[in-house]
Amino acid sequence: MYGVVAVYLDHAATTPLLPEVLEAYTAALAVAGNPASLHAAGRDARRMLEEAREKLAGALGCDPVEVVFTSGGTEAINTALKGIFWARTRAGASARIAASGVEHHATLDTLAWLAGREGAEVVDVAVDGDGRILPAALDAALAGGAAVATAIWANNEVGTVSDIPALAAVAAFHGVPLHVDAVQALGAVPVDFRGSGAAALSVSAHKIGGPVGVGALIVGRRTAADPLLHGGGQQRGIRSGTQDVAGAVAFALAATLAVERRGAAAARTSALRDRLIRGVLEAIPDAVLRGALAGPERLPGNAHFTFAGCDGDSLLFLLDTAEIAVSTGAACAAGVAELSHVLLAMGVDEAHARGALRFTFGASTTEADVDAVLRALPDAVARARRAARRA
Ligand SMILES: Cc1ncc(COP(=O)(O)O)c(C=O)c1O
Repeated sequence: MYGVVAVYLDHAATTPLLPEVLEAYTAALAVAGNPASLHAAGRDARRMLEEAREKLAGALGCDPVEVVFTSGGTEAINTALKGIFWARTRAGASARIAASGVEHHATLDTLAWLAGREGAEVVDVAVDGDGRILPAALDAALAGGAAVATAIWANNEVGTVSDIPALAAVAAFHGVPLHVDAVQALGAVPVDFRGSGAAALSVSAHKIGGPVGVGALIVGRRTAADPLLHGGGQQRGIRSGTQDVAGAVAFALAATLAVERRGAAAARTSALRDRLIRGVLEAIPDAVLRGALAGPERLPGNAHFTFAGCDGDSLLFLLDTAEIAVSTGAACAAGVAELSHVLLAMGVDEAHARGALRFTFGASTTEADVDAVLRALPDAVARARRAARRA
């Protein structure tokens, strides 16, 4: 399924299409018709699209009219942050934006663009040593008013789950809309848009068994957002463009299955995760587990460690030669490893941040996968440390 890779533990990067979703996706791709056309073919496409919108809304706890399909999480986040910032500042709100340092690059780079080009002032919201976004810090950040605040529900690197309802209550107290990046949270923790108190929420299909290139921004009825894309005025005018019916059908099914299966999947993957954590800490006593301790504040399918004295990249390549696919969690710019901004924001020192390794689990992960890592990792760490000493 993964080419030459025998053990795939990088489900946070992307997880395979579920077979049921692949079947529904390909069947929907065969249906011709633009959902905006008035003839019978168009009406058929429209019906499929609106059924998918209703289904996704059901899975996410929002109204169908609040679902804006996008090309993925990155577009959803860009649309939310730029769109809400523009609408709010036009209406007289302060140009501040509150965000933590553990957000995904889709958020951080959008904010940097807004700061560089649109005069936004980004105010940092502090996190604790596990990467939890602190409601008291959001409260302080919003004291002078803001156009928008944003928070990552579950961190994609260290797997820490923040208390979104508490953060949303703080934002509501200040009258500031909160956007939530729920890309890693969906299917892993209960995600209910209405109950969360968020003003807008971004999700992505390929993290939950749907296709790459499909996502959604949930925009609350009372949330104003200016469009990024102009054209035919589809989707409340927030996201013009002919809508991807097959993508919507596939995403809606993947989200429904992810929500239905969440409890059982979480129990299964968290048991595997805990087996890996126990095994790694036993075999490599100076390994440090990063993020919240196993429990509701940690993603069930995430184990993240730092190994001081070696490079995460070396570990990644050594494991790759053993046909084990993992991630350092951090971005790689032009082949040069970057230190993780998430670990640095959590206060991790450089020596540890350099040796980061993330294992993420999915529906296909087995005990045999975990045991393969436990067999290969101690030697990989020893070799990577020897290589780092020689360098
Ligand atoms: C937390 C988080 N936000 C946003 C994104 C971007 O989503 P997409 O890949 O659908 O653009 C990702 C993907 O890695 C993510 O993990």
